[in-house]
Amino acid sequence: MESPVRWNDAEAQAIIDRHKGRDGATLPILHALQARFGFVDRAVIPVLAEALNLSKAEIHGVLTFYHDFRDTPPQGRVIRLCRAEACQSLGVEAMLAEFCASTGMSPDQPSAEGVVIETVYCLGNCALGPAALVEGELVGRVDCARLEALVAGAEPAAIAAGEAV
Ligand code: FES
Repeated sequence: MESPVRWNDAEAQAIIDRHKGRDGATLPILHALQARFGFVDRAVIPVLAEALNLSKAEIHGVLTFYHDFRDTPPQGRVIRLCRAEACQSLGVEAMLAEFCASTGMSPDQPSAEGVVIETVYCLGNCALGPAALVEGELVGRVDCARLEALVAGAEPAAIAAGEAV
């Protein structure tokens, strides 16, 4: 899947134009918009209705019927990073300082992409610290490269398994 970008009317129009000649174009267009932007801005409903010669109510009905479609931008990723004693003894503070210096991010402050590194105190993974929890997945031995990969959207399971970095 393409990674979501900020909503752009001209690009949305180009996506609509690319698919509007297909039979049953509504769903493919909505899927393509969501794949591109991470959500479907409701402002596109009248544009899409006109392009497909359908009513706004019909487009709205499709958009709201399928629960997979979002009409608001997705929230950024939350990375819970343990900064309690055992993880401190395994270097979490130095690692975090290195990470912040290299990325310009600060703990507990969302990045421009909405990613937050939330400070927590003990994830029960002390022996494998520094520890993080991302999308329900415990990631151990978090170093700067692993944290950067998680912020960039890497699969936490792959990072936990030692892949992807
Ligand atoms: S102290 Fe960090 S996981 Fe327990």
